[in-house]
Amino acid sequence: MHPSAKPKHSYPLDAWCIRETSFDTQSHFLDETLFALGNGYIGLRGSHEEGYSGPAGTSLDGTYLNGFYESEPIHYPEAAFGLAKTNQFMLNVPNGKGIGLWIEDERFDLLQGTVEKYERTLDFRTGVLQRALQWKSKKGRRVSIVSRRVVCFEHKHLFAMEYVVTPLNFFGRVRLVSTLDGAVKNLEAGDDPRIGSAVSGPALHLVDSDQEEHFSALLQRTGNSGFSLVSATATELRHAGPHALRLLKNGQRLEQSYEVQADEGQAVRLTKFGCYYSSRDYPAKELMWRSRDALAQAQASGFDALLLEQTQYLADFWQRADVEIAGDDALQQGIHFNQFHLLQSVGRDGKTNISAKGVTGEGYEGHYFWDTEIYIFPFFLYSKPDIARKLLEYRYAGLGKARERARQMSHDKGALYPWRTIAGEECSAYFPAGTAQYHINADIAYSIKLYFEATGDDDYMLRCGAEILMETARIWLGIGNYDRGGRFCINQVTGPDEYTALVNNNYYTNAMARMHLNFAADVAARIAAAQPGEFARIAGLMALDAAEPEEWRRAAGLMALPYDVALQIHAQDDSFLSKKVWDFANTPKENYPLLLNYHPMVIYRHQVCKQADVVLALLLLSEEFSLEDKRRDFDYYEPVTTHDSSLSSCIYSIIASEIGYHRKAYDFFMETARLDLDDTHGNTHYGVHTAAMAGTWMGVAYGFAGMRVVKGALRFAPTLPAQWRHYTFKIHFKGALLQVRVEPGRTEYRLLQGEALSFAHRAEALELTLSAPVLSRA
Ligand code: BGC
Repeated sequence: MHPSAKPKHSYPLDAWCIRETSFDTQSHFLDETLFALGNGYIGLRGSHEEGYSGPAGTSLDGTYLNGFYESEPIHYPEAAFGLAKTNQFMLNVPNGKGIGLWIEDERFDLLQGTVEKYERTLDFRTGVLQRALQWKSKKGRRVSIVSRRVVCFEHKHLFAMEYVVTPLNFFGRVRLVSTLDGAVKNLEAGDDPRIGSAVSGPALHLVDSDQEEHFSALLQRTGNSGFSLVSATATELRHAGPHALRLLKNGQRLEQSYEVQADEGQAVRLTKFGCYYSSRDYPAKELMWRSRDALAQAQASGFDALLLEQTQYLADFWQRADVEIAGDDALQQGIHFNQFHLLQSVGRDGKTNISAKGVTGEGYEGHYFWDTEIYIFPFFLYSKPDIARKLLEYRYAGLGKARERARQMSHDKGALYPWRTIAGEECSAYFPAGTAQYHINADIAYSIKLYFEATGDDDYMLRCGAEILMETARIWLGIGNYDRGGRFCINQVTGPDEYTALVNNNYYTNAMARMHLNFAADVAARIAAAQPGEFARIAGLMALDAAEPEEWRRAAGLMALPYDVALQIHAQDDSFLSKKVWDFANTPKENYPLLLNYHPMVIYRHQVCKQADVVLALLLLSEEFSLEDKRRDFDYYEPVTTHDSSLSSCIYSIIASEIGYHRKAYDFFMETARLDLDDTHGNTHYGVHTAAMAGTWMGVAYGFAGMRVVKGALRFAPTLPAQWRHYTFKIHFKGALLQVRVEPGRTEYRLLQGEALSFAHRAEALELTLSAPVLSRA
């Protein structure tokens, strides 16, 4: 566990849901993240319908749209040429899920009166967030309230809710007020660089509003990014008797207030549909009618039909993606929770990606990082390859801006992807741990390679992949140079470890650049030979000189890869091993994460890693290292790594598995698996950690099951942690769907879809076919 963290919360251990059985202001902020719903576009934090009257700083009632942002100039007290100019941050958009409840003259509030029963469940198989409670008002009136909500996977712009109130010991007035509240703002930045935007006050400005009977809509615009947004709701009240409806408007807050005389035991049911349409997707003039249409259609289908659709979507997902662990309930829950949140977070339209916190909170401002390609991509590639392709399409859509960025960085050709962004522009205001991470180019190339090897999708390669690979490969020639000894060096970059910055020859960067350069040259040669017309077209798009691929190969062949002969380990960079080792023994627990307690230069001066760096290369470029190499590198870097980044433990777990450190593999894995559920990094209230979540999946497949794809060939080397009875996971590979089940002393491979699949079990080549779809091996 992270040194400064302690678990704040524990839920009953159910494999398919998280459930809370009491309401607690202490964990409320965190619960809003954990119980968040999303569909890759809309994200609704798990805030209660009625609002929250608890202590300040214990809630953030946020609603987010993946990729919908405002931009703001970045103000540098000391500017310099080429620094990122503009930040983009994901906006908190109008809150459409508000429903207030009055019983006679008393307002329902979870913190007033008495909550007699309480249960809230987020179900991973239905995708529904349900809360059931019984409440007694101060004056002794009792009600049951059951509410359900869903953010529809099948309808990008839609969410749906149902709210049912039943008087339990009285006859009287019940008033339900549905709100659409546009007066929302984002968190303001504090001392933690990982949270908040520089903007204070509202970023969305009201242009128009519309309210009639059961319908409310707000049309707003962002000041700088210039986007229009329509947020709209439609409500429907069902009750045995008549109801009175009043429409209220207070600034940007629109309300439908329904009042009934309810009998004891008689349910009052409010159904509410909400949608968001922005000019990032459609022309501004279409947003209003599209919203009306979507809501009318939702009403015509009804809440139950949307719920059914959601369950079906999820059934298909779990059928492909489920990782089953027998023997550890806490872990099983953690894994399903992670998989579910990944699906909720990932953009599926080719225009959006997956942000570091998904759509669950404002940490890292909704930015996309290398987290996508190196951590999250494998999960989707092998579980839902269609989504993996969408993630790669997003990068293609950003190629133009990456070219522009390369020019700003004085590269006369090629493309440099931003370290962090929403719409494609570089948004990192701190370049030593931002733009300097040039490895982003190789990370993207790596994911294209992985994708191509697993799917053989020539269409993507020809339309998008080859051009990205070659344009980004050019940058290595742009920043690297041959030194006097003839080595190709890449200087002044930052590798994955953000506790070491602006170094020469970061091992990870150079090794990944080598892979990238070779792969780009291979792809160029393959297309040139097989489809010369296509090659000419792509080369034309980027004015590729015929000699360039050879230059790439030469640089790759002569790449500097720092190695310390005395220690027999790969050096993180040219200077890392000559620095003083951080004084871990005298660093108090509360000083972690170090980034919040020491000036960056103090950290940079020491041998101390925030996260896996060389050790990550051992995984991604597995075949380039012997087991002995891996063991020595792991032994050296583990003691100097703080895992202050949530991207670290999963990688250490995988390599520990491979080198036979089973105990450590398990411990590192457990840190990742329940990182958000147990809030071990102490900041999940600002959003889930999507990279770590996907790291859990890698921990099972790459770690315990030893899965690797080497030169396009799939292989496994399974082990079973002593704590588990067995585990099962599935892999989409080359059109087939394979199930791998690891039991004591035996692994069973089963072909679930497809005609045949070849792979290796340790050193043995196996083939599954329709006539022999199951094989077991010791
Ligand atoms: C890590 C980066 C990561 C970012 C977003 C930072 O703490 O050091 O590697 O990309 O978080 O998750």
